[in-house]
Amino acid sequence: MGSNFPLFPEAASSTALRVDALFFFWLAVAAFFTIAIFVLLPVLAIKYRRRPGRLIGKAVHGSTPLEIAWSAAPMAIVMVLFVWGAEVFFHMYRPPNETWDVDVVGKRWMWKLEHPNGKREINELHVPVGTAVKLHMTSEDVIHSFYVPAFRVKQDVLPGRYTTLWFRAIKTGKYHLFCAEYCGNEHSKMGGWVTVMEPADFQQWLSGETAGATGPQVSPAAAGAELFTKFACSSCHRKAGPGEPPSLGPNLEGIFGTTVKLQGGATVTVDENYVRESILDPTAKVVDGFLPVMPTFKGQMNEDQVLALVAYVKSLTKSDASASAAAPAGGG
Ligand code: CUA
Repeated sequence: MGSNFPLFPEAASSTALRVDALFFFWLAVAAFFTIAIFVLLPVLAIKYRRRPGRLIGKAVHGSTPLEIAWSAAPMAIVMVLFVWGAEVFFHMYRPPNETWDVDVVGKRWMWKLEHPNGKREINELHVPVGTAVKLHMTSEDVIHSFYVPAFRVKQDVLPGRYTTLWFRAIKTGKYHLFCAEYCGNEHSKMGGWVTVMEPADFQQWLSGETAGATGPQVSPAAAGAELFTKFACSSCHRKAGPGEPPSLGPNLEGIFGTTVKLQGGATVTVDENYVRESILDPTAKVVDGFLPVMPTFKGQMNEDQVLALVAYVKSLTKSDASASAAAPAGGG
C-alpha cells in the first residue's frame, strides 16, 4: 500500500500474500459480527420496547432448530479458519527442498549473516527475488527474534539451539529487518535491511568484494573442513580402512539427514541441532556401538565456528573419498 498513511507494511513475500488473505478474511468475519451486533442491538431494543399491552415479555422455552443453528454456524466458521490457518502455518514452517541457506547469528546488538559462499554481512541481508531463502539462526547471548514485517515472518533466535525461517521474496526493494524480542539497552536499534535484488544483480553482488573484509572469502563448509582438521575431529571421525583399527567416532560421510541408532535403543535424526549438540555436549546422545569418549568443545568454539562445522558435516556425501577431502563449495 503506497499511501502516506500505510496501515500495512508492503507485502513482499509469498508468505505475506497468504497471511494477508487469511487476515482479511478473519477481519471480514469479525466486522460482520461486530456490525450485526451493533445494528441489531438498537433495532431490537426499539422493536421490542415496553408498550401498553406488552408490559411483560413472553417466556421462550428452548428451540431445537435455533440451538442447532447457532452451534453449527460458528462451528463452520471456526473450522474454515482452522483449516485455512493450518495450511498457512504449514507453508510457513515447511521450507521447500531447494533453498538458498544463510547462517544467522544474533548477538547484542547486531545480526551477523553469512551466505553459502562465505560472503558475510552485518545488519543487512541481500537475497535474490523469487528464490526460497532459508535462515539457520542461533544467538550468542540472549533470545532475539528475526522479524521482517514485509515478509510476514518472525522467528525467535535462541542461544544454544538452531531455529530456521524461510521466505520467498516476490518484489525487489529494501525492507526493514527488526529484532522483535526485548534483548537489552539497544534492542530497538538491533535491526537493518533486507535487500531483494534481481537474480543477476544478486550474483554480481555475491561475487563482489565485501567492504572491510579481512582475508579470503571461504564458504562455511570449507571453513568447517579446516576446523575439522584443526580441532582434530578427523582423527576419530573417519572411515577405517581395511586392516586399520576401528575408528573411535562414527564416520560422518553421508550421515546428515539420516536417522541413527543411539546407545539404549533410541534413535535420532541427524540435523543441525543434533550435530551442534554432539559438538558441545558429545555424551548427551552417543551413537550405538561407540564409547562416550569425545571431549566437549564448549567454550572452545564460537557460534560461527559451530555453524561452519555443521555446514561441513552437511556437505559430506557418501561418495567423498575421505572425511578430510576438501569440502565442495557451498550451494545450499
Ligand atoms: Cu535482539 Cu531485541
